[in-house]
Amino acid sequence: MLKKIFLASDHGGYALKELVKVFLIRKKHTIEDLGCFSLDAVDYPDYAKLLSENLKTEPYSQGILFCGTGIGISMAANRYSHIRAALCTSVEMASKSRKHNNANVLALGGRIITDSLAIDIVHEFFKTNFEAGRHSLRVNKI
Ligand code: RB5
Repeated sequence: MLKKIFLASDHGGYALKELVKVFLIRKKHTIEDLGCFSLDAVDYPDYAKLLSENLKTEPYSQGILFCGTGIGISMAANRYSHIRAALCTSVEMASKSRKHNNANVLALGGRIITDSLAIDIVHEFFKTNFEAGRHSLRVNKI
């Protein structure tokens, strides 16, 4: 099963999406960019929905959502029952969101974190596995 990383952003996350996309391609990940494709203003719930719909058809895939803060787009994505989107502002949060919460979507704020921190967070998120065990019981209760 091909594991893909879907990317989606609003205008506030567009620049960071483009930067992270280059990083993921260099690391040989298979990615699909769902937009947006410019700095023109768009509504972040539309892009959260698009990514969530794509993940529903490819449940082994993962995603990254970007907006200005990461807040709105993660809120919107977490309305979908198959999405566990983690808004991360540190490498530690990225690590724990995978180990403990089995997050399938990373959310980042393009106007909040530096480019280099964003890359470190992305690297950590995609190299870290769910620890399962006692955490499975809790994740299953969400
Ligand atoms: C758009 O200006 C901004 O509100 C959006 O990117 C995001 O930060 C919302 O949570």
